[in-house]
Amino acid sequence: MLEAKKINKNPYMPEKARIVRKYDLTEDVRFFQIRIINPDLVLPLTSSYKPGQFMMLSIPNVGEAPFSITSTPSRPGVFEFCIRKVGKLTTKLFELKENSVVWLRGPFGNGFPVEQMVGKDLLFVAGGLGVAPLRSLLLYALDNRELFGKIFYLHGARTPKDMLFREEFFRLKERDDFECYLSVDSDPLGVWPFDIGVVTDLFKYVKVNAANTAAVVCGPPVMYKFVVNKFLELGVPDNQIFMTLERKMKCGMGKCGQCVVGHKYVCVDGPVFTLWDVKNIRGLI
Ligand SMILES: Cc1cc2nc3c(=O)[nH]c(=O)nc-3n(C[C@H](O)[C@H](O)[C@H](O)COP(=O)(O)OP(=O)(O)OC[C@H]3O[C@@H](n4cnc5c(N)ncnc54)[C@H](O)[C@@H]3O)c2cc1C
Ligand code: FES
Repeated sequence: MLEAKKINKNPYMPEKARIVRKYDLTEDVRFFQIRIINPDLVLPLTSSYKPGQFMMLSIPNVGEAPFSITSTPSRPGVFEFCIRKVGKLTTKLFELKENSVVWLRGPFGNGFPVEQMVGKDLLFVAGGLGVAPLRSLLLYALDNRELFGKIFYLHGARTPKDMLFREEFFRLKERDDFECYLSVDSDPLGVWPFDIGVVTDLFKYVKVNAANTAAVVCGPPVMYKFVVNKFLELGVPDNQIFMTLERKMKCGMGKCGQCVVGHKYVCVDGPVFTLWDVKNIRGLI
């Protein structure tokens, strides 16, 4: 069973880490592979977190922010992130070269309930940066393929050049032990070999046992309503529909109150919530 080990006994104390690899996924989103420097911590930390958890990444005198882990604990050694340049911290991060030092705290958050998903069909729907936590869960499920039923992965992007991990998904599409469908809203250059249209159009390919399916959506907020409706049309129960939610965070561990919604701390009780939670906790969405 995956049970995240924490970096440090004092959870406010970040651990020194190094950027070992980075490359652009799109114009403003970059992939980062980061390794904890202390060799005694590398394996325990990178093999025990849950897909869907996040780390607090910081640069001294610049800032700290939460980022979903996009790697899988089934491929330990490094933490991987895909990060959009939006503000102070991420702009500075994009300026750093390979080998530069950054600091990590965590892992934090509840992550996906992987144990509850065992034996079920899995249906993923990813859009935009939502692919970050979903890639972690998908790779974990593919690395433990015998634990799950059918796997359907649907991924939408605005145009081909906006699709994160495009080449990786092209390669994954070749596998015959799961179904991967990729769509773009529009194809201005006429180069896209797959579906063109909104991601919900891809539901026409989905054939799952809805009552025994864990359905996961992660993407821009506007996507959630349409995708969740599709899950419900299929007949997936509310408590088997999962989504990740974002709130501004400071401590990441239920101490500062920054992310509180109703009686929930998004950083501890989330960021993964079920549709049942969303319907019953006011203000969550
Ligand atoms: C659980 C969780 C997981 C996340 N995972 C990821 C991930 O995998 N990848 C990723 O890229 N991001 C992720 N995020 C979001 C990320 O943490 C934020 O984008 C973070 O704020 C970036 O830090 P920054 O200092 O670069 O941006 P900030 O400077 O904090 O800016 C963030 C946003 O606020 C706006 N802003 C900043 N200052 C102002 C102002 N004065 N007035 C109005 N608007 C302003 C900026 O334009 C920008 O859109 C996640 C967030 C959460 C909660
Ligand atoms: S970020 Fe501090 S309580 Fe959630």
